[in-house]
Amino acid sequence: MKALVLAGGTGSRLRPLSHSMPKQLIPIANKPVLAHCLESLAAIGVRDVGVIVGDRGDEIRASAGDGSAFGLRLTYLQQDRPRGLAHCVQIARPFLGDDDFVMYLGDNMLVGGIASLAEEFHRTRAAAQVTVTKVTDPREYGVAEVDADGRVTALVEKPLHPRSDLAVIGVYFFTPEIHSAVRRIEPSARGELEITDAIALLVDEGRQVNAGRFEGYWKDTGRIEDVLDCNRELLSTITTGIEGSVDAASELIGEVIIERGARVTRSRIVGPVMIAAGSVVTDSRLGPYTTVGRDCRLRGAGVEQSIVLDSVAVTQVRGIHGSVLGRGARVRSVPADAHRRLVLGDDTEVEIAA
Ligand code: TTP
Repeated sequence: MKALVLAGGTGSRLRPLSHSMPKQLIPIANKPVLAHCLESLAAIGVRDVGVIVGDRGDEIRASAGDGSAFGLRLTYLQQDRPRGLAHCVQIARPFLGDDDFVMYLGDNMLVGGIASLAEEFHRTRAAAQVTVTKVTDPREYGVAEVDADGRVTALVEKPLHPRSDLAVIGVYFFTPEIHSAVRRIEPSARGELEITDAIALLVDEGRQVNAGRFEGYWKDTGRIEDVLDCNRELLSTITTGIEGSVDAASELIGEVIIERGARVTRSRIVGPVMIAAGSVVTDSRLGPYTTVGRDCRLRGAGVEQSIVLDSVAVTQVRGIHGSVLGRGARVRSVPADAHRRLVLGDDTEVEIAA
């Protein structure tokens, strides 16, 4: 079985971060979402992976390389612009040939992996197998109606009156039957070739389409809140590993990972927290649920429930909560009566005490 990973798209809901990096490279527990996805694919024995990329392809290539770090062989497939998930299947046809394949949306996180879903597909070898999970408000999702045998009887995109609470999430298993279906669909109202329409066509034609249930933690990391939530979830599974230096005046509580080359001085770290190599944390309070990327400088900082990307400097600012600081961002305090100088990138969001 091959895999097709979708790492193009616009990422408009993840601005401003997606202005400067493709959303599939946003770090969750200090590792790009895409890396989590590739690890899950390697774990089910896939070797050949096609990666759909758009105009941020160079950054995706620089991050994932030829795939050997994951035990995979990656083939990059260029999409001229985001024309829909079914369009990705169309342009991947020469790569996929007549093999079965798993299609994985490169911004989705399925914690715990997809091994049981893959086993189910191998066992039943339905024409297609979508992955579903229970959600509280199905109206925001593609929704699957499923019979007692786990067979999909209908697929409805963002229904006003959902007849099921099973949302279709970003991992799909296909036999080559999907190719004729994606050739026969028309662009939707939003101008994209929808994979839901192609799968619905298989259902309408009486082909077997199954729903594999995913019971673990799932997130589409499409919005900042989702990214933070996912980060919290992965952090809750870490165990302490201290390879960097921590002075005697610092206090570490709970699960804390400090990578080699990171330095913590006179600080209180409340896990779960990860601090990546090269970062220096002084006179600060970090955590819980906080990741700090590489080469950051945190001095007199207070940061909790947040993601700090690489090369960030925070100087004498406390109370940073539920925040994401992009690469190279600098946050520093000024006296209460001083002017506040803001250099904000497009679509940036800032909250300042009045
Ligand atoms: P989406 O999240 O549906 O689309 P998007 O990236 O354009 O996001 P937004 O709505 O915030 O603008 O895409 C799901 C995944 O599939 C994501 O990893 C991007 C990828 N994708 C492609 O590679 N090509 C495409 O044509 C589309 C629509 C998505």
